[in-house]
Amino acid sequence: MKALRKAVILGTGFSVPDKVITNDDLARMVDTSDEWIKTRTGIHERRIISDGDSLFQLSLPAARQAVANARLAPEEIDLIIFATFTPDYQVPATACMIQNALGCTRAGAFDMQAACSGFVYGSTIASQFVATGTYNNVLVIGGDVTTRILDFNDRNSCVLFGDGVGAAVFAPAKDNETGVIDNLLGAIGSGAEYIIIKNGGSMHRPTVEAIQNREHYLTINGKEVFKFSTKIVGDIIEEVLKRNNMTLDQISLIVPHQANIRIIESAAKRFDCPMEKFYVNIQRYGNTVAASIPLALHEALLEGRISKGDNIILVGFGGGLTYGLQLIKWGDYTKPTV
Ligand SMILES: CC(C)(COP(=O)(O)OP(=O)(O)OC[C@H]1O[C@@H](n2cnc3c(N)ncnc32)[C@H](O)[C@@H]1OP(=O)(O)O)[C@@H](O)C(=O)NCCC(=O)NCCS
Repeated sequence: MKALRKAVILGTGFSVPDKVITNDDLARMVDTSDEWIKTRTGIHERRIISDGDSLFQLSLPAARQAVANARLAPEEIDLIIFATFTPDYQVPATACMIQNALGCTRAGAFDMQAACSGFVYGSTIASQFVATGTYNNVLVIGGDVTTRILDFNDRNSCVLFGDGVGAAVFAPAKDNETGVIDNLLGAIGSGAEYIIIKNGGSMHRPTVEAIQNREHYLTINGKEVFKFSTKIVGDIIEEVLKRNNMTLDQISLIVPHQANIRIIESAAKRFDCPMEKFYVNIQRYGNTVAASIPLALHEALLEGRISKGDNIILVGFGGGLTYGLQLIKWGDYTKPTV
């Protein structure tokens, strides 16, 4: 094996649909209220793709922007990893459609699924390929159009999610000082049924009855996922800090998965640190699943919240149940303008 290198994020990209759904809009569909959604989740509004749009179409500008911000030509991308649980098709992979549309002619391309932890799983794979020297430039896309699989009769789930796509290009650090310091991936498969789409996979043949029973929609056990999430975020931050002999004071910013503001508040409380340590944009987009971390990262960069040399943490959790964390010393990066 070649000597290990450090992977930095060279460029990021962002894309959300124009169309907004407010809490009041949802209150006209199910028995809920703006007040309940804001206080119990922190979400004020979310974005929704229009009929006729697709994950592929929404992803293209984010992917293109990440490659441009990395100052790379599409042909220089070696691998495209697309983390999503709402691909356009079971086959072909949405990553292959992006590979073709972007002109990344040399790149391998595949989709992967780790629900809301998807981006951290993808970025861990990317940084390993860069570290081993197998690839130089890996494009990781995290994107979901969850509104397509939401039951807008189910108030337990339909108020929580929105659509979006974020992307990042991983490449070797020039200085070998900055870059990914550590990764942690995990799963608690015993909680698999807490976030599930019962039909639409290969478990059952499609039937009219299954569609009538609304089995192709996402269902969640919010209470159980909430319990898991509030514990795991703190646990894995603590574990990674400990094994790197670091304290939270050395972390400039934590970019958490945006599932519920109360999950982030509970982590801040556990560490007795101000909420400013965490980047939060859930109020604007809701839970965008695999997109939530790269969307938040891109906005944090636009706002100048991250500088070279800063230690930052990306932390995800969700369906599977899965969880993941990436600790990065931020490297050379040209700030995006949009
Ligand atoms: C879903 C979630 C917001 C619910 O918040 P909560 O404060 O825990 O609420 P509870 O589950 O205790 O439900 C409280 C009540 O609100 C009701 N409720 C649920 N959704 C509601 C809504 N949209 N509007 C109004 N009331 C609602 C429940 O029916 C329940 O009523 P009951 O007490 O009469 O049974 C929260 O558990 C959560 O964010 N969980 C994780 C979400 C998730 O799975 N995300 C995906 C993976 S990261």
